[in-house]
Amino acid sequence: MAMDVEQLLQNKAMHVEDILKRNLPSGDGYADEVVDAMNYSLLAGGKRLRPVMMLEAFNLFSKGKTDESVVEPFVAAIEMIHTYSLVHDDLPAMDNDEYRRGRKTTHAVYGAGMATLAGDGLLNLAFEVATCGAISGKELSPYDGECANRYLQSLYILGKKAGYRGMVGGQCADIMAENAKDIPEEKMKDILHYIDENKTGALIECSIMIGAILGGASQKDVALLEKAGSNVGIAFQIQDDILDITSTQEELGKPIGSDEKNNKSTYVSLYGMDNAKDKVKELSEEAKDILKNLGFADSFLSELFEYLIYRKK
Ligand code: IPE
Ligand code: IPE
Ligand code: MG
Ligand code: MG
Ligand code: MG
Repeated sequence: MAMDVEQLLQNKAMHVEDILKRNLPSGDGYADEVVDAMNYSLLAGGKRLRPVMMLEAFNLFSKGKTDESVVEPFVAAIEMIHTYSLVHDDLPAMDNDEYRRGRKTTHAVYGAGMATLAGDGLLNLAFEVATCGAISGKELSPYDGECANRYLQSLYILGKKAGYRGMVGGQCADIMAENAKDIPEEKMKDILHYIDENKTGALIECSIMIGAILGGASQKDVALLEKAGSNVGIAFQIQDDILDITSTQEELGKPIGSDEKNNKSTYVSLYGMDNAKDKVKELSEEAKDILKNLGFADSFLSELFEYLIYRKK
């Protein structure tokens, strides 16, 4: 019997785990504590979806012709950046949550100061690892985008999508919109779109884009994948907001009811549960259509987009 998506995803996540393990920080002396905190966060598990998407996009374009070692440093880097975003997101000054990935979150074990530094450490390590990969990586064909060097173009996208025009910008709007009593509903819907597109969409977009760029994609195809990634990212956040209401801490590995506790506006709070579920489906179908138009209808990436519509954790 053919393996189902869940089993395949698990196998692919284990492969990501191996790549991560080859790129872990190792401490010496007076920095031991922050290194421990970084490893604690990174090795807590997690679905490893962004790196899996990056590898899949890479393989769709490289078709086995470019060695996977080209993309591996970026695979480790994206999971480091995502993990840092979660460490900071849980801090008392942000969502103030105590559990993550099935165990106490970083600040609950190491304190808020060390958790802040662990996030900073992971962000910097991500760029160190990715840059090392770019320096030592095999020569690639020229890219027809902003920068002909595919490694540099990937580093640029990683910095941009993780920063204030991406994840950090979305987290900023997310905090600003807490307790949004005076914001008119239409305006709030606009803000929510910005939040979801950026705090979650941006890292998913860049995972797929970087995989494709390093695998040999053209700028035109990367632009289409950016849109697909954006859709899947927004759908992923809407589903996260749904599960924050309907799931359990045991299943999710993180507290439920976090959004209500922090008076967040979410797709569910603004549009209702049924509309939220429909939107997840609609956005994901659109993303699958983009893959189909690129000739990737039968890809694992397309199956993954479908699978995520019904994810329970
Ligand atoms: C959680 O992301 C934060 C959101 C963007 C919703 P994931 O659900 O991918 O978390 P892990 O990596 O599996 O822990
Ligand atoms: C956070 O969204 C997304 C990030 C950029 C970390 P949430 O605050 O809803 O994520 P969870 O539910 O804590 O994982
Ligand atoms: Mg948050
Ligand atoms: Mg949170
Ligand atoms: Mg959430």
